[in-house]
Formats: sequence, structure tokens, C-alpha cells
Amino acid sequence: MNDTIARDEPAAAPASSAQPKKVFVKTYGCQMNVYDSQRMADALAAEGYSPTDAIEDADLVLLNTCHIREKAAEKVYSELGRIRKLKAERGERGRETIVGVAGCVAQAEGDEIIRRAPVVDLVIGPQTYHRLPQAVRKARAGEKVVETDYAIEDKFERLPALRKAEVRSRGVTAFLTVQEGCDKFCTFCVVPYTRGSETSRPVAQILAEAQRLGEAGVREVTLLGQNVNAWHGEGPDGSEWGLGQLLFRLVEVPGIARLRYTTSHPRDMDDALIAAHRDLPALMPYLHLPVQAGSDRILKAMNRRHTADDYLRLIERIRAANPDIAMSGDFIVGFPGETDADFEATMRLVREVGYAQAFSFKYSPRPGTPGAEMPLHVAEHVKDGRLQALQALLGEQQAAFLKSRVGLTMDVLIEKPGRQPGQIVGRSPWLQPVIVDEKAGEIGDIVRVRITKTGHASLFSEPV
Ligand code: SAH
Ligand code: SF4
Ligand code: F3S
Repeated sequence: MNDTIARDEPAAAPASSAQPKKVFVKTYGCQMNVYDSQRMADALAAEGYSPTDAIEDADLVLLNTCHIREKAAEKVYSELGRIRKLKAERGERGRETIVGVAGCVAQAEGDEIIRRAPVVDLVIGPQTYHRLPQAVRKARAGEKVVETDYAIEDKFERLPALRKAEVRSRGVTAFLTVQEGCDKFCTFCVVPYTRGSETSRPVAQILAEAQRLGEAGVREVTLLGQNVNAWHGEGPDGSEWGLGQLLFRLVEVPGIARLRYTTSHPRDMDDALIAAHRDLPALMPYLHLPVQAGSDRILKAMNRRHTADDYLRLIERIRAANPDIAMSGDFIVGFPGETDADFEATMRLVREVGYAQAFSFKYSPRPGTPGAEMPLHVAEHVKDGRLQALQALLGEQQAAFLKSRVGLTMDVLIEKPGRQPGQIVGRSPWLQPVIVDEKAGEIGDIVRVRITKTGHASLFSEPV
């Protein structure tokens, strides 16, 4: 369908085009970047680029970057330093190398990247990935290309459709972006600036992509969005759908046996979504619901627009609908103004919820966000101490959750061969890798096992 867009315009055919071209993509940051990297690789396949894992063989090197914390953004520049040498070495052998920076650093810094790292030929923001093939052609013709507008055309409409063979080679689980961007403007966060305002993909587009994934052998689909539960659209009957209604429809897609979604905002958990957790066995009992902090004062300063108590009551409702559900979350320690008492409130909230898994970070001031301008920044050693204490607590909870699975019988989706002969590895409903006897089934099967013991972050099983 959409692959015609790329094919209509012939690639500027240089003399070297007899040799198949190779693209190396390195992905930083969140799952949406993983999804985007695949879509970019698909768009480039239509241009004759095949993917490679060996950067030194690549005619096109693409870094798909993340801007969420300072460290994430800085990694890109150190990688570009290495790429500069590589490009020079390839140049000596008469090989051209185009270097592109995509993703959230591209969107945030634009042509500043080329000023700081002249090795870069091409900068492209997440809203314009459908223009990547043209941008690469321009770069090959010697132009420095910067594409960072919030495009008005629908990039998803214009990106080539996923091809079956390509999906097959990727395995039995897949991401599917349904929503992108954010209007919530938490005061610490760059995402509203890098991903633009909140948009939802239409129902028909999502269903078509899910169907293609199902046909290609994908068994588990994770719906993605920066605020995935803010997704909304018009159902086939003309009524307004939220993510809950969409999930009820997606369980009917042939082949798809399991659904997940991430990341959710507490303010967008509505009754239909909670009902989906009660009524849909295919919706896995696992919910990533970041709260960031446990102190109402800090939550307010972060512009999260809910209290700690709102969050706890919401989890009560979710657990009432499905007692099996495991919680996951994100936390920031050392937001400006955070006192010991505020941090204690975060620890209390964590103890009260009991997380199966969680991510925690030291606050990183991001240029252009209100948080960076706030008074009372917390000293680095204080952030370190708080992060350590929080991670110790979350680590204990994660270990306790793993232990609580021992003796349970559960369905496991087999994903890949194991490291030891005779073993295969699958995924529990709660996302842990499960080691399974290879006689139990094949990749793509959902097999029933009993958990016998825990590993470091995994589970061991016996067939039942
Ligand atoms: N859209 C998601 C989160 C996106 S960013 C949500 O609303 O939850 C993923 C996580 O990175 C956030 O949940 C937050 O915990 C962390 N994060 C974002 N900005 C940060 C910053 N400036 N410093 C430290 N951590 C940050
Ligand atoms: Fe960032 Fe907040 Fe939007 Fe999440 S909800 S992406 S943390 S601004
Ligand atoms: Fe990073 Fe952008 Fe994702 S900043 S976390 S790659 S949305």
C-alpha cells in the first residue's frame, strides 16, 4: 500500500549503486525508539538499504537518540566521536558514509548537532521519519539536511507498511505505536518538546497493522504511547473510543494472543481500561503506571496533577478489578526542593504499593523545562544517597515478587532458544523471562508450566 511512496521516486542512482547498500541503526531510549528504528529500517529497505550489525560495513549510520536525561544525550556525542574516525577510515578506502542523527536529541537540538559534530550529514526528528528516504538522498548529494518540523502530513500513513518477511525475522513479540506526543508538561520532562503534542493513530490504521503482525506470526503486541492511555479515536460505529475499547477490539485479531500497553499516566486510567483488565484474559496482568514521587508538594511542583492518595486509590480500584495485576513504575529522586521528608513520602508510597518492577532515576535538569529553572536544586551526593535507598527497597520488592511466583502454574509465551542446550526461553504474564524445557513447545507457542525456582531476574519451570 504505502510502499509506493518510496518506490515512485527513484533513488538518485550513483555509480556505486551496483553494490547493495547497508544501514546500521543504533537505538537509545524508550520502546518507541525501538519501534521507530524498525519503521525507519523498513523505509530504507525500499531504498535498497539492508540492515547490518557491523557499523564498519555501513554506508549509512543512523543514531536514534534519547534526550530524557543529560547522560542519554551525551552518549550520542561520544558515539559521534567514534563514528568520525570510522568515516575517515572508510573514506580512505573510497567508501562513502552518511551519518544521520534521528530521535529526540535531533528534535531538541536540530542543526546545533551539525555545528557540534560536523561528521553528521543529516538530522531528522521523530515527526518526519516518512521523509527519511528523500533526506538520505539529499545527504548523498552533498547537502547537510535538517528535518525537524512538526510535519502536518500523517507520517504513519506515509511510512511503508510493515512487510511480512521483515516482521517474521523479528520474532513473536512486537511493538505497535498507537499514540505519540504529550500535552501534560511535567516540569522535569522534555518529551512534550521532542515528540510534540498528543496525537492518536486512527482505529483502522492500528487494526490493519495489528492484523499484519498477526499474519506474520506475532503472538504478543505491546501498544506504545508516551501517554498510551490518553489514546482516543472514533470506533467503527462512530462512537468515541478510549484505549479500553481499542483493547476489546484488538483481542479479536487472529493470531494475537497477548496484549500489553505502555506507558500510562495515572490521570488517564478510565473505567473502560480498568474493565479491560477485569474482562480480557489476553490483556496481561501487568501495569506500568509511573508516579515519580510520593510527596504531594513535589507532585505539585512536577505538575503531575494528582496526589499520592489519588494514585493509591486508583491502584486499589485496579486491583479490585484484577487482583493478579503486578505494578511497575518510574521514580525521580532529588527533584528541586525535595527534602528528606518528601523523599520519605516516596519510600512510604513504594512500601504501600509493592512493585513487581520499577525504574528510578536521579533528577536531571533539562534545558528549556521549568524544573531546570526552579530554586533549591538538590546536591548530587544527596540524590545518590536517595537513589541507593530507593533502589534497595525496589530491589527487595522485585525479589519478593519473583519468589511469590514459585509454585504457581502459568502460561508462558516461548520467544527464543535458551543459553543452555535443551532450554528455551519464554515470558511470563508479568514479563519475567522463564526458562522452559525445549520439549514443552516451540517458539511462538504458549505453554503451561509450573515455576520451580527463581534465577537472578528470571524464573525456572517444569512442564505440566
Ligand atoms: N511518558 C511517560 C514517561 C516518559 S520518560 C510518563 O509519563 O510516565 C520515562 C521516565 O523517565 C519518566 O517516567 C521519569 O521517571 C524519567 N524522567 C523523565 N525526565 C526526567 C528527568 N529530567 N530526570 C530524571 N528522570 C526523568
Ligand atoms: Fe513527560 Fe509527563 Fe508527558 Fe510523561 S506525562 S511524557 S513524564 S511530560
Ligand atoms: Fe527518550 Fe524520546 Fe523516548 S527523550 S525516552 S527517546 S520519547
